Amino acid sequence: MCGIVGYIGNNNAKTIVMDGLRRLEYRGYDSAGVSLFNPDTNGFELIKKKGRIVNLEAALPGYSTPIAIGHTRWATHGKVSQENAHPHVSASGRFTIVHNGVIDNHMELRKRYLEHVEFKSQTDSEVIVELIDLFSKNLSTDSAIRKTLSALEGSYALLVMDNTDPFTMYGAKHKSPLLLGKGEEGMVIGSDMMALIDVADNYLALDDETLVRMDTKNFTLYNIDGDVLPYKLSKLEVDEIDSDKGEFDHFMLKEIHEQPAVLRRIIGEYFNETHIRIDDALIHSIASRDRIYILAAGTSMHAGLVGKTLIEKLTDIPVEVHVASEFAYDPPKLTANPQFIMISQSGETADLRACLMNLKKDAHPTLTLTNVKTSTLAREADHFLQLFAGPEIAVASTKAYTAQIAVLAILGYALSAQSFDLKRELSEVAIAMEDFLSKSNSIESDVKTLLTKRNAFYIGRGLDNKVCMEAALKLKEISYIQTEGFAAGELKHGTIALIEEDTPVIAIIANEKTAENTRSNLSEVESRGAKTYTIALESVAHDDDDIVLNNVSPLLSPLITVIPTQLIAYYAALHRDLDIDKPRNLAKSVTVE
Ligand code: AGP
Repeated sequence: MCGIVGYIGNNNAKTIVMDGLRRLEYRGYDSAGVSLFNPDTNGFELIKKKGRIVNLEAALPGYSTPIAIGHTRWATHGKVSQENAHPHVSASGRFTIVHNGVIDNHMELRKRYLEHVEFKSQTDSEVIVELIDLFSKNLSTDSAIRKTLSALEGSYALLVMDNTDPFTMYGAKHKSPLLLGKGEEGMVIGSDMMALIDVADNYLALDDETLVRMDTKNFTLYNIDGDVLPYKLSKLEVDEIDSDKGEFDHFMLKEIHEQPAVLRRIIGEYFNETHIRIDDALIHSIASRDRIYILAAGTSMHAGLVGKTLIEKLTDIPVEVHVASEFAYDPPKLTANPQFIMISQSGETADLRACLMNLKKDAHPTLTLTNVKTSTLAREADHFLQLFAGPEIAVASTKAYTAQIAVLAILGYALSAQSFDLKRELSEVAIAMEDFLSKSNSIESDVKTLLTKRNAFYIGRGLDNKVCMEAALKLKEISYIQTEGFAAGELKHGTIALIEEDTPVIAIIANEKTAENTRSNLSEVESRGAKTYTIALESVAHDDDDIVLNNVSPLLSPLITVIPTQLIAYYAALHRDLDIDKPRNLAKSVTVE
Protein backbone atom coordinates (compact mmCIF):
# COMPACT_ATOMS: atom_id res chain seq x y z
CA MET A 1 0.00 0.00 0.00
CA CYS A 2 1.11 3.67 -0.22
CA GLY A 3 4.74 4.35 0.62
CA ILE A 4 6.47 7.54 1.77
CA VAL A 5 10.14 8.48 1.71
CA GLY A 6 11.76 11.83 2.43
CA TYR A 7 15.38 12.90 2.81
CA ILE A 8 17.13 16.08 3.87
CA GLY A 9 20.91 16.12 4.21
CA ASN A 10 24.29 16.28 2.55
CA ASN A 11 23.85 13.38 0.14
CA ASN A 12 21.82 13.24 -3.05
CA ALA A 13 18.20 13.12 -1.89
CA LYS A 14 17.00 12.11 -5.34
CA THR A 15 18.95 8.83 -5.23
CA ILE A 16 18.03 8.13 -1.61
CA VAL A 17 14.33 8.73 -2.15
CA MET A 18 14.24 6.66 -5.35
CA ASP A 19 16.12 3.79 -3.64
CA GLY A 20 13.64 3.99 -0.77
CA LEU A 21 10.65 3.95 -3.12
CA ARG A 22 12.07 0.91 -4.89
CA ARG A 23 12.41 -0.88 -1.55
CA LEU A 24 8.76 -0.11 -0.82
CA GLU A 25 7.60 -1.39 -4.22
CA TYR A 26 6.83 -4.81 -2.75
CA ARG A 27 3.99 -3.24 -0.74
CA GLY A 28 1.97 -2.66 -3.92
CA TYR A 29 1.17 0.65 -5.66
CA ASP A 30 -0.25 2.02 -8.87
CA SER A 31 1.53 5.35 -9.38
CA ALA A 32 4.58 7.16 -8.03
CA GLY A 33 5.91 10.68 -7.69
CA VAL A 34 8.62 12.87 -6.20
CA SER A 35 9.20 16.50 -5.40
CA LEU A 36 12.84 17.61 -5.59
CA PHE A 37 14.51 20.84 -4.56
CA ASN A 38 16.00 22.28 -7.74
CA PRO A 39 19.18 24.22 -6.83
CA ASP A 40 19.02 26.18 -10.11
CA THR A 41 15.53 27.60 -9.58
CA ASN A 42 15.60 27.52 -5.77
CA GLY A 43 12.19 25.88 -5.84
CA PHE A 44 10.65 22.42 -5.81
CA GLU A 45 10.09 20.42 -8.97
CA LEU A 46 7.23 17.94 -9.13
CA ILE A 47 7.37 14.75 -11.19
CA LYS A 48 4.64 12.09 -11.05
CA LYS A 49 3.78 9.11 -13.20
CA LYS A 50 1.07 6.50 -13.43
CA GLY A 51 2.27 2.90 -13.20
CA ARG A 52 5.62 1.53 -12.16
CA ILE A 53 8.59 3.37 -10.65
CA VAL A 54 10.57 2.87 -13.86
CA ASN A 55 8.18 5.35 -15.54
CA LEU A 56 9.01 7.92 -12.88
CA GLU A 57 12.71 7.20 -13.10
CA ALA A 58 12.73 7.88 -16.82
CA ALA A 59 11.29 11.37 -16.22
CA LEU A 60 13.70 12.51 -13.48
CA PRO A 61 16.02 15.51 -14.02
CA GLY A 62 19.79 15.02 -13.88
CA TYR A 63 20.67 17.36 -11.00
CA SER A 64 21.58 16.35 -7.44
CA THR A 65 19.56 17.76 -4.59
CA PRO A 66 19.77 17.79 -0.79
CA ILE A 67 15.98 17.63 -0.24
CA ALA A 68 13.29 15.42 -1.73
CA ILE A 69 10.09 13.61 -0.87
CA GLY A 70 8.58 10.69 -2.74
CA HIS A 71 5.47 8.55 -2.70
CA THR A 72 4.03 5.36 -4.14
CA ARG A 73 0.22 5.52 -4.27
CA TRP A 74 -2.34 2.75 -3.91
CA ALA A 75 -5.59 4.41 -4.94
CA THR A 76 -8.32 4.83 -2.32
CA HIS A 77 -9.97 8.17 -3.25
CA GLY A 78 -9.91 8.86 -6.98
CA LYS A 79 -8.86 6.66 -9.85
CA VAL A 80 -5.32 5.67 -10.74
CA SER A 81 -4.01 8.70 -12.66
CA GLN A 82 -1.11 11.11 -12.82
CA GLU A 83 -3.18 13.92 -11.24
CA ASN A 84 -4.15 11.74 -8.29
CA ALA A 85 -0.57 10.55 -7.72
CA HIS A 86 1.39 12.25 -4.91
CA PRO A 87 3.04 14.66 -4.10
CA HIS A 88 0.30 17.29 -4.11
CA VAL A 89 1.13 20.98 -4.32
CA SER A 90 -1.13 23.75 -2.99
CA ALA A 91 -2.74 25.97 -5.61
CA SER A 92 -0.46 28.86 -4.57
CA GLY A 93 2.57 26.60 -5.22
CA ARG A 94 3.94 27.18 -1.72
CA PHE A 95 3.42 23.81 0.01
CA THR A 96 4.02 20.25 -1.16
CA ILE A 97 2.87 17.12 0.66
CA VAL A 98 2.82 13.35 0.45
CA HIS A 99 0.19 11.50 2.49
CA ASN A 100 -0.58 7.91 3.47
CA GLY A 101 -3.92 7.14 5.07
CA VAL A 102 -7.48 8.32 4.60
CA ILE A 103 -9.00 11.66 5.62
CA ASP A 104 -12.57 10.72 6.56
CA ASN A 105 -13.88 14.30 6.81
CA HIS A 106 -12.30 15.68 3.62
CA MET A 107 -15.72 16.59 2.13
CA GLU A 108 -16.71 18.57 5.22
CA LEU A 109 -13.34 20.34 5.26
CA ARG A 110 -13.68 21.30 1.59
CA LYS A 111 -17.10 22.83 2.30
CA ARG A 112 -16.08 24.58 5.48
CA TYR A 113 -12.73 26.09 4.45
CA LEU A 114 -11.89 25.46 0.82
CA GLU A 115 -14.84 26.36 -1.41
CA HIS A 116 -12.66 28.91 -3.20
CA VAL A 117 -10.04 26.31 -4.19
CA GLU A 118 -9.96 24.63 -7.57
CA PHE A 119 -8.73 21.13 -6.75
CA LYS A 120 -6.45 19.41 -9.23
CA SER A 121 -7.10 15.85 -8.05
CA GLN A 122 -9.91 13.70 -6.73
CA THR A 123 -7.91 12.73 -3.64
CA ASP A 124 -8.75 13.34 0.00
CA SER A 125 -5.05 14.24 0.48
CA GLU A 126 -5.17 17.46 -1.52
CA VAL A 127 -7.39 18.93 1.19
CA ILE A 128 -4.45 18.71 3.62
CA VAL A 129 -2.08 20.79 1.52
CA GLU A 130 -4.74 23.40 0.82
CA LEU A 131 -5.62 23.70 4.52
CA ILE A 132 -1.95 24.20 5.45
CA ASP A 133 -1.69 26.86 2.76
CA LEU A 134 -4.86 28.57 3.98
CA PHE A 135 -3.88 28.58 7.66
CA SER A 136 -0.35 29.74 6.85
CA LYS A 137 -1.77 33.12 5.76
CA ASN A 138 -2.02 34.05 9.44
CA LEU A 139 0.22 31.52 11.14
CA SER A 140 3.76 30.19 11.02
CA THR A 141 4.19 27.04 8.91
CA ASP A 142 4.57 25.02 12.05
CA SER A 143 1.33 26.33 13.55
CA ALA A 144 -0.51 26.03 10.24
CA ILE A 145 0.41 22.35 10.04
CA ARG A 146 -0.70 21.76 13.62
CA LYS A 147 -3.98 23.58 13.06
CA THR A 148 -4.56 21.46 9.95
CA LEU A 149 -3.85 18.24 11.81
CA SER A 150 -6.33 19.21 14.54
CA ALA A 151 -9.01 19.55 11.88
CA LEU A 152 -8.36 16.16 10.27
CA GLU A 153 -10.33 13.02 11.06
CA GLY A 154 -8.93 9.73 9.87
CA SER A 155 -5.38 8.52 9.43
CA TYR A 156 -2.24 10.12 8.14
CA ALA A 157 1.48 9.79 7.72
CA LEU A 158 2.46 13.07 6.17
CA LEU A 159 5.50 14.94 4.88
CA VAL A 160 5.33 18.65 4.18
CA MET A 161 7.73 21.01 2.40
CA ASP A 162 7.44 24.79 2.25
CA ASN A 163 9.13 26.57 -0.65
CA THR A 164 9.65 29.73 1.43
CA ASP A 165 11.84 27.65 3.76
CA PRO A 166 13.14 24.78 1.61
CA PHE A 167 15.77 23.51 4.04
CA THR A 168 13.19 22.42 6.58
CA MET A 169 10.99 19.35 6.23
CA TYR A 170 8.01 18.42 8.40
CA GLY A 171 6.54 15.01 9.19
CA ALA A 172 3.42 14.04 11.14
CA LYS A 173 1.66 10.83 11.99
CA HIS A 174 -1.67 9.48 13.19
CA LYS A 175 -2.67 5.81 12.78
CA SER A 176 -0.48 5.30 9.66
CA PRO A 177 3.16 4.38 10.35
CA LEU A 178 5.99 6.92 10.02
CA LEU A 179 9.61 6.34 11.05
CA LEU A 180 12.40 8.85 11.28
CA GLY A 181 16.00 7.82 10.68
CA LYS A 182 19.11 9.78 11.62
CA GLY A 183 22.40 9.16 9.85
CA GLU A 184 25.82 10.84 9.77
CA GLU A 185 24.87 12.84 6.70
CA GLY A 186 21.20 13.62 7.14
CA MET A 187 17.64 12.70 8.03
CA VAL A 188 15.50 10.15 6.28
CA ILE A 189 11.82 9.62 6.99
CA GLY A 190 9.55 6.90 5.68
CA SER A 191 6.48 4.78 6.17
CA ASP A 192 8.44 1.53 6.42
CA MET A 193 11.77 0.66 7.98
CA MET A 194 12.93 -0.49 4.54
CA ALA A 195 12.98 3.15 3.42
CA LEU A 196 15.56 4.00 6.08
CA ILE A 197 18.24 1.41 5.45
CA ASP A 198 21.60 2.51 4.05
CA VAL A 199 20.97 6.06 5.29
CA ALA A 200 20.15 5.91 9.00
CA ASP A 201 22.07 4.41 11.91
CA ASN A 202 19.35 5.12 14.44
CA TYR A 203 15.63 5.54 14.19
CA LEU A 204 12.51 6.63 15.99
CA ALA A 205 9.00 5.32 15.32
CA LEU A 206 6.72 8.32 15.67
CA ASP A 207 3.73 8.01 18.01
CA ASP A 208 0.26 9.06 16.97
CA GLU A 209 -0.32 12.80 16.89
CA THR A 210 3.34 13.68 16.94
CA LEU A 211 5.15 15.92 14.52
CA VAL A 212 8.76 16.30 13.56
CA ARG A 213 10.62 19.28 12.11
CA MET A 214 13.88 18.36 10.38
CA ASP A 215 16.82 20.19 8.94
CA THR A 216 19.91 18.66 7.38
CA LYS A 217 21.51 17.91 10.76
CA ASN A 218 18.87 17.53 13.38
CA PHE A 219 15.23 17.33 14.28
CA THR A 220 12.70 18.42 16.89
CA LEU A 221 9.81 16.28 18.00
CA TYR A 222 6.62 17.89 19.27
CA ASN A 223 2.95 17.27 19.82
CA ILE A 224 -0.09 18.81 18.24
CA ASP A 225 -0.10 21.59 20.88
CA GLY A 226 3.46 22.50 19.95
CA ASP A 227 5.09 21.15 23.13
CA VAL A 228 8.56 19.75 22.47
CA LEU A 229 8.73 16.03 23.30
CA PRO A 230 11.63 13.95 24.60
CA TYR A 231 12.66 10.93 22.51
CA LYS A 232 14.99 7.98 22.48
CA LEU A 233 16.53 6.74 19.25
CA SER A 234 16.94 2.99 18.70
CA LYS A 235 19.65 1.26 16.71
CA LEU A 236 18.46 0.46 13.21
CA GLU A 237 18.63 -3.28 12.62
CA VAL A 238 16.66 -4.68 9.71
CA ASP A 239 16.86 -7.84 7.72
CA GLU A 240 18.02 -6.42 4.38
CA ILE A 241 15.55 -7.31 1.67
CA ASP A 242 16.99 -10.26 -0.17
CA SER A 243 16.46 -8.71 -3.56
CA ASP A 244 18.04 -11.63 -5.33
CA LYS A 245 15.58 -14.20 -6.61
CA GLY A 246 18.46 -16.64 -6.97
CA GLU A 247 17.57 -19.56 -9.23
CA PHE A 248 13.86 -18.64 -9.13
CA ASP A 249 11.88 -16.54 -11.60
CA HIS A 250 9.68 -14.98 -8.93
CA PHE A 251 9.90 -14.13 -5.25
CA MET A 252 6.76 -16.19 -4.65
CA LEU A 253 8.40 -19.37 -5.93
CA LYS A 254 11.55 -18.60 -3.96
CA GLU A 255 9.51 -18.03 -0.79
CA ILE A 256 7.57 -21.28 -1.30
CA HIS A 257 10.88 -23.12 -1.52
CA GLU A 258 12.22 -21.35 1.58
CA GLN A 259 9.59 -22.94 3.84
CA PRO A 260 11.59 -25.94 5.10
CA ALA A 261 14.45 -23.59 6.05
CA VAL A 262 12.04 -21.18 7.75
CA LEU A 263 10.55 -24.01 9.76
CA ARG A 264 14.02 -25.10 10.85
CA ARG A 265 14.87 -21.55 11.83
CA ILE A 266 11.69 -21.33 13.92
CA ILE A 267 12.60 -24.60 15.65
CA GLY A 268 16.08 -23.21 16.36
CA GLU A 269 14.74 -19.90 17.67
CA TYR A 270 11.99 -21.32 19.89
CA PHE A 271 13.41 -24.57 21.28
CA ASN A 272 16.49 -25.24 23.33
CA GLU A 273 17.34 -28.62 24.84
CA THR A 274 14.89 -28.44 27.73
CA HIS A 275 12.76 -25.42 27.26
CA ILE A 276 10.66 -23.34 24.90
CA ARG A 277 11.95 -19.82 24.47
CA ILE A 278 8.74 -17.94 25.22
CA ASP A 279 8.61 -15.76 28.30
CA ASP A 280 7.27 -17.91 31.20
CA ALA A 281 5.30 -15.00 32.59
CA LEU A 282 3.50 -14.62 29.25
CA ILE A 283 2.69 -18.34 29.13
CA HIS A 284 1.34 -18.29 32.70
CA SER A 285 -0.70 -15.25 31.98
CA ILE A 286 -2.28 -16.73 28.82
CA ALA A 287 -2.86 -20.04 30.60
CA SER A 288 -4.93 -18.24 33.21
CA ARG A 289 -7.31 -16.74 30.62
CA ASP A 290 -10.78 -18.09 29.97
CA ARG A 291 -10.67 -17.56 26.18
CA ILE A 292 -8.26 -16.60 23.44
CA TYR A 293 -9.46 -14.27 20.69
CA ILE A 294 -7.35 -14.44 17.55
CA LEU A 295 -7.67 -11.38 15.31
CA ALA A 296 -6.21 -11.20 11.81
CA ALA A 297 -6.90 -10.59 8.13
CA GLY A 298 -6.56 -12.61 4.92
CA THR A 299 -3.93 -15.33 4.97
CA SER A 300 -3.03 -14.54 8.57
CA MET A 301 -6.66 -15.09 9.54
CA HIS A 302 -6.52 -18.47 7.80
CA ALA A 303 -3.42 -19.34 9.85
CA GLY A 304 -5.44 -18.26 12.90
CA LEU A 305 -8.17 -20.78 11.99
CA VAL A 306 -5.58 -23.56 12.03
CA GLY A 307 -4.14 -22.11 15.25
CA LYS A 308 -7.56 -22.31 16.90
CA THR A 309 -7.71 -26.08 16.31
CA LEU A 310 -4.11 -26.53 17.48
CA ILE A 311 -4.56 -24.57 20.70
CA GLU A 312 -7.94 -26.10 21.49
CA LYS A 313 -6.59 -29.63 20.95
CA LEU A 314 -3.51 -28.96 23.08
CA THR A 315 -5.08 -26.95 25.91
CA ASP A 316 -8.41 -26.41 27.65
CA ILE A 317 -8.65 -22.81 26.49
CA PRO A 318 -11.41 -22.09 23.98
CA VAL A 319 -10.32 -20.01 21.00
CA GLU A 320 -12.33 -17.73 18.71
CA VAL A 321 -10.99 -16.35 15.43
CA HIS A 322 -12.24 -13.02 14.11
CA VAL A 323 -11.68 -11.02 10.96
CA ALA A 324 -10.03 -7.84 12.23
CA SER A 325 -12.07 -5.40 10.13
CA GLU A 326 -15.29 -6.86 11.59
CA PHE A 327 -14.05 -7.16 15.15
CA ALA A 328 -12.93 -3.52 15.22
CA TYR A 329 -16.46 -2.18 14.86
CA ASP A 330 -18.69 -5.13 15.71
CA PRO A 331 -16.98 -7.10 18.47
CA PRO A 332 -18.68 -10.13 20.00
CA LYS A 333 -19.63 -10.30 23.66
CA LEU A 334 -16.30 -10.99 25.36
CA THR A 335 -15.66 -13.39 28.22
CA ALA A 336 -14.58 -12.07 31.62
CA ASN A 337 -10.88 -12.83 31.25
CA PRO A 338 -9.83 -12.82 27.60
CA GLN A 339 -6.42 -12.92 25.88
CA PHE A 340 -6.04 -11.36 22.45
CA ILE A 341 -3.61 -12.62 19.83
CA MET A 342 -3.06 -10.54 16.72
CA ILE A 343 -1.48 -12.32 13.77
CA SER A 344 0.07 -10.23 11.02
CA GLN A 345 2.93 -10.86 8.64
CA SER A 346 3.60 -7.15 8.16
CA GLY A 347 2.59 -5.96 11.62
CA GLU A 348 1.09 -2.89 9.95
CA THR A 349 -2.43 -3.95 8.96
CA ALA A 350 -4.70 -0.99 9.76
CA ASP A 351 -7.76 -3.15 10.54
CA LEU A 352 -5.76 -4.91 13.23
CA ARG A 353 -4.39 -1.70 14.60
CA ALA A 354 -7.93 -0.38 14.96
CA CYS A 355 -8.68 -3.48 17.09
CA LEU A 356 -5.50 -3.02 19.11
CA MET A 357 -6.32 0.61 19.93
CA ASN A 358 -9.75 -0.41 21.27
CA LEU A 359 -8.29 -3.31 23.24
CA LYS A 360 -5.64 -1.09 24.79
CA LYS A 361 -8.30 1.43 25.84
CA ASP A 362 -10.00 -1.36 27.79
CA ALA A 363 -6.65 -2.62 29.15
CA HIS A 364 -7.05 -6.09 27.61
CA PRO A 365 -3.88 -8.23 27.34
CA THR A 366 -2.52 -8.37 23.80
CA LEU A 367 0.08 -10.46 22.00
CA THR A 368 1.19 -9.93 18.40
CA LEU A 369 2.64 -12.66 16.18
CA THR A 370 4.48 -10.90 13.40
CA ASN A 371 7.30 -11.28 10.95
CA VAL A 372 8.50 -7.70 11.41
CA LYS A 373 9.83 -7.08 14.89
CA THR A 374 10.01 -3.31 14.38
CA SER A 375 6.41 -3.05 13.15
CA THR A 376 3.63 -1.02 14.75
CA LEU A 377 1.72 -4.04 16.04
CA ALA A 378 4.89 -5.55 17.53
CA ARG A 379 5.68 -2.29 19.29
CA GLU A 380 2.22 -1.49 20.52
CA ALA A 381 1.00 -4.86 21.83
CA ASP A 382 1.96 -5.95 25.37
CA HIS A 383 4.03 -8.82 23.94
CA PHE A 384 5.17 -10.06 20.58
CA LEU A 385 6.46 -13.30 19.10
CA GLN A 386 8.51 -13.19 15.94
CA LEU A 387 7.77 -15.43 12.97
CA PHE A 388 11.37 -15.58 11.70
CA ALA A 389 10.21 -16.14 8.11
CA GLY A 390 12.65 -13.54 6.76
CA PRO A 391 11.41 -10.73 4.49
CA GLU A 392 8.43 -11.81 2.42
CA ILE A 393 8.38 -9.83 -0.82
CA ALA A 394 5.70 -11.48 -2.96
CA VAL A 395 2.29 -9.98 -2.22
CA ALA A 396 0.87 -13.49 -1.94
CA SER A 397 1.88 -14.72 1.48
CA THR A 398 3.28 -18.26 1.62
CA LYS A 399 6.18 -18.75 4.03
CA ALA A 400 4.61 -16.35 6.55
CA TYR A 401 1.46 -18.54 6.63
CA THR A 402 3.38 -21.69 7.51
CA ALA A 403 5.54 -19.72 9.96
CA GLN A 404 2.39 -18.41 11.67
CA ILE A 405 1.02 -21.94 12.04
CA ALA A 406 4.35 -23.22 13.37
CA VAL A 407 4.60 -20.45 15.98
CA LEU A 408 0.95 -20.97 17.00
CA ALA A 409 1.71 -24.69 17.39
CA ILE A 410 4.68 -23.86 19.61
CA LEU A 411 2.58 -21.43 21.64
CA GLY A 412 -0.15 -24.09 22.06
CA TYR A 413 2.51 -26.61 23.05
CA ALA A 414 4.00 -24.21 25.63
CA LEU A 415 0.50 -23.78 27.09
CA SER A 416 -0.11 -27.54 27.21
CA ALA A 417 0.95 -30.50 29.35
CA GLN A 418 3.52 -31.41 26.62
CA SER A 419 3.31 -35.18 26.37
CA PHE A 420 4.84 -35.40 22.88
CA ASP A 421 7.90 -34.15 21.06
CA LEU A 422 6.78 -31.15 18.99
CA LYS A 423 10.33 -30.26 18.03
CA ARG A 424 10.77 -33.64 16.36
CA GLU A 425 7.35 -33.46 14.71
CA LEU A 426 8.09 -30.03 13.25
CA SER A 427 11.45 -31.30 12.00
CA GLU A 428 9.62 -34.13 10.24
CA VAL A 429 7.35 -31.56 8.57
CA ALA A 430 10.43 -29.70 7.30
CA ILE A 431 11.69 -32.96 5.76
CA ALA A 432 8.28 -33.70 4.22
CA MET A 433 8.15 -30.17 2.75
CA GLU A 434 11.61 -30.58 1.26
CA ASP A 435 10.80 -33.99 -0.12
CA PHE A 436 7.67 -32.73 -1.84
CA LEU A 437 9.32 -29.58 -3.19
CA SER A 438 12.10 -31.64 -4.74
CA LYS A 439 9.63 -33.71 -6.79
CA SER A 440 6.76 -31.30 -7.41
CA ASN A 441 7.34 -30.89 -11.15
CA SER A 442 4.09 -32.50 -12.26
CA ILE A 443 2.03 -29.64 -10.82
CA GLU A 444 3.01 -27.27 -13.60
CA SER A 445 1.50 -29.47 -16.32
CA ASP A 446 -1.42 -30.67 -14.14
CA VAL A 447 -2.50 -27.08 -13.63
CA LYS A 448 -2.62 -26.47 -17.39
CA THR A 449 -5.25 -29.13 -17.92
CA LEU A 450 -7.05 -28.70 -14.60
CA LEU A 451 -7.63 -24.96 -14.29
CA THR A 452 -9.23 -24.15 -17.61
CA LYS A 453 -12.33 -22.41 -16.24
CA ARG A 454 -13.02 -19.00 -14.69
CA ASN A 455 -13.88 -20.64 -11.38
CA ALA A 456 -12.63 -23.43 -9.12
CA PHE A 457 -13.26 -25.06 -5.76
CA TYR A 458 -11.14 -26.47 -2.98
CA ILE A 459 -12.93 -28.87 -0.66
CA GLY A 460 -11.92 -30.58 2.58
CA ARG A 461 -13.07 -31.21 6.12
CA GLY A 462 -11.74 -30.08 9.50
CA LEU A 463 -8.17 -28.77 9.24
CA ASP A 464 -8.22 -29.66 5.53
CA ASN A 465 -11.14 -27.26 5.09
CA LYS A 466 -9.15 -24.50 6.76
CA VAL A 467 -6.27 -25.08 4.35
CA CYS A 468 -8.83 -25.00 1.50
CA MET A 469 -9.75 -21.44 2.47
CA GLU A 470 -6.13 -20.36 2.25
CA ALA A 471 -5.62 -22.35 -0.97
CA ALA A 472 -8.62 -20.59 -2.53
CA LEU A 473 -7.40 -17.14 -1.50
CA LYS A 474 -3.96 -17.87 -2.97
CA LEU A 475 -5.39 -19.06 -6.27
CA LYS A 476 -7.74 -16.10 -6.69
CA GLU A 477 -5.33 -13.39 -5.63
CA ILE A 478 -2.66 -14.21 -8.18
CA SER A 479 -4.44 -16.10 -11.01
CA TYR A 480 -7.77 -14.18 -10.77
CA ILE A 481 -9.66 -17.49 -10.99
CA GLN A 482 -12.73 -17.15 -8.80
CA THR A 483 -12.16 -19.85 -6.19
CA GLU A 484 -14.04 -20.95 -3.11
CA GLY A 485 -12.58 -22.96 -0.25
CA PHE A 486 -15.45 -25.06 1.00
CA ALA A 487 -16.36 -27.53 3.72
CA ALA A 488 -16.67 -30.68 1.60
CA GLY A 489 -19.88 -31.80 3.27
CA GLU A 490 -21.54 -28.41 2.90
CA LEU A 491 -21.20 -28.26 -0.89
CA LYS A 492 -24.34 -30.31 -1.49
CA HIS A 493 -26.39 -27.80 0.50
CA GLY A 494 -26.51 -25.30 -2.33
CA THR A 495 -23.14 -24.52 -3.87
CA ILE A 496 -23.07 -27.78 -5.82
CA ALA A 497 -25.44 -25.98 -8.21
CA LEU A 498 -22.36 -24.21 -9.57
CA ILE A 499 -20.68 -27.45 -10.63
CA GLU A 500 -20.83 -28.00 -14.37
CA GLU A 501 -18.77 -29.73 -17.05
CA ASP A 502 -15.04 -29.37 -16.27
CA THR A 503 -15.44 -27.21 -13.13
CA PRO A 504 -12.17 -27.85 -11.26
CA VAL A 505 -12.64 -29.25 -7.75
CA ILE A 506 -9.48 -29.89 -5.74
CA ALA A 507 -9.74 -31.94 -2.55
CA ILE A 508 -7.37 -31.86 0.39
CA ILE A 509 -7.46 -35.15 2.26
CA ALA A 510 -5.27 -35.49 5.34
CA ASN A 511 -7.75 -36.26 8.05
CA GLU A 512 -8.24 -40.00 8.65
CA LYS A 513 -11.63 -39.59 10.28
CA THR A 514 -13.14 -37.76 7.34
CA ALA A 515 -11.06 -38.90 4.35
CA GLU A 516 -13.71 -41.22 2.95
CA ASN A 517 -16.49 -38.65 3.44
CA THR A 518 -14.50 -36.13 1.42
CA ARG A 519 -13.99 -38.76 -1.28
CA SER A 520 -17.77 -39.32 -1.40
CA ASN A 521 -18.22 -35.58 -1.87
CA LEU A 522 -15.70 -35.73 -4.71
CA SER A 523 -17.75 -38.49 -6.38
CA GLU A 524 -20.85 -36.29 -6.10
CA VAL A 525 -19.19 -33.48 -8.03
CA GLU A 526 -17.56 -35.86 -10.52
CA SER A 527 -21.02 -37.24 -11.32
CA ARG A 528 -22.02 -33.72 -12.26
CA GLY A 529 -19.09 -33.22 -14.62
CA ALA A 530 -16.42 -31.71 -12.32
CA LYS A 531 -12.75 -32.27 -13.08
CA THR A 532 -11.27 -33.41 -9.76
CA TYR A 533 -7.76 -33.38 -8.33
CA THR A 534 -6.63 -34.82 -5.01
CA ILE A 535 -3.91 -33.84 -2.56
CA ALA A 536 -3.62 -36.53 0.13
CA LEU A 537 -1.38 -37.57 3.00
CA GLU A 538 0.21 -40.99 2.49
CA SER A 539 -1.72 -42.49 5.44
CA VAL A 540 -5.07 -41.88 3.68
CA ALA A 541 -3.93 -41.90 0.05
CA HIS A 542 -5.41 -43.94 -2.79
CA ASP A 543 -3.38 -45.16 -5.74
CA ASP A 544 -4.94 -42.67 -8.09
CA ASP A 545 -4.44 -39.57 -5.95
CA ASP A 546 -2.71 -36.81 -7.86
CA ILE A 547 -0.39 -35.66 -5.08
CA VAL A 548 0.66 -37.81 -2.16
CA LEU A 549 2.52 -36.16 0.70
CA ASN A 550 4.67 -37.77 3.36
CA ASN A 551 2.89 -38.44 6.63
CA VAL A 552 3.25 -35.88 9.38
CA SER A 553 1.51 -35.47 12.71
CA PRO A 554 -2.23 -34.94 11.90
CA LEU A 555 -2.35 -31.65 13.80
CA LEU A 556 0.53 -30.28 11.72
CA SER A 557 -0.83 -31.47 8.38
CA PRO A 558 -1.75 -27.92 7.19
CA LEU A 559 1.96 -27.12 7.09
CA ILE A 560 2.45 -29.68 4.34
CA THR A 561 -0.93 -29.84 2.55
CA VAL A 562 -0.79 -26.12 1.82
CA ILE A 563 2.45 -26.40 -0.18
CA PRO A 564 0.98 -28.01 -3.35
CA THR A 565 -1.83 -25.41 -3.28
CA GLN A 566 0.73 -22.60 -3.27
CA LEU A 567 2.37 -24.14 -6.34
CA ILE A 568 -1.00 -24.62 -8.03
CA ALA A 569 -1.66 -20.88 -7.60
CA TYR A 570 1.83 -20.01 -8.80
CA TYR A 571 1.62 -22.09 -12.00
CA ALA A 572 -1.94 -20.99 -12.72
CA ALA A 573 -0.73 -17.37 -12.71
CA LEU A 574 2.39 -18.27 -14.68
CA HIS A 575 0.34 -19.92 -17.46
CA ARG A 576 -1.81 -16.82 -17.64
CA ASP A 577 1.30 -14.65 -17.90
CA LEU A 578 0.30 -12.53 -14.91
CA ASP A 579 2.35 -10.34 -12.61
CA ILE A 580 2.82 -13.03 -9.94
CA ASP A 581 4.70 -11.06 -7.31
CA LYS A 582 2.56 -7.94 -7.67
CA PRO A 583 -0.98 -9.00 -8.50
CA ARG A 584 -3.44 -6.34 -9.63
CA ASN A 585 -5.21 -4.20 -7.03
CA LEU A 586 -3.34 -5.75 -4.11
CA ALA A 587 -0.87 -4.37 -1.60
CA LYS A 588 1.56 -6.24 0.62
CA SER A 589 0.89 -4.10 3.63
CA VAL A 590 -2.70 -2.91 3.97
CA THR A 591 -2.36 0.30 5.95
CA VAL A 592 -5.85 1.74 5.41
CA GLU A 593 -9.02 0.45 7.04
C1 AGP B 1 -1.94 -12.82 1.56
O1 AGP B 1 -1.58 -13.55 0.44
C2 AGP B 1 -2.64 -11.61 1.29
N1 AGP B 1 -1.99 -10.81 0.35
C3 AGP B 1 -3.36 -10.90 2.42
O2 AGP B 1 -4.52 -11.63 2.62
C4 AGP B 1 -2.66 -10.71 3.78
O3 AGP B 1 -2.50 -11.93 4.41
C5 AGP B 1 -3.52 -9.76 4.65
O4 AGP B 1 -3.61 -8.52 4.03
C6 AGP B 1 -2.99 -9.62 6.05
O5 AGP B 1 -1.73 -9.05 6.07
P1 AGP B 1 -0.81 -9.13 7.35
O6 AGP B 1 -0.54 -10.55 7.61
O7 AGP B 1 0.41 -8.36 6.98
O8 AGP B 1 -1.58 -8.49 8.48
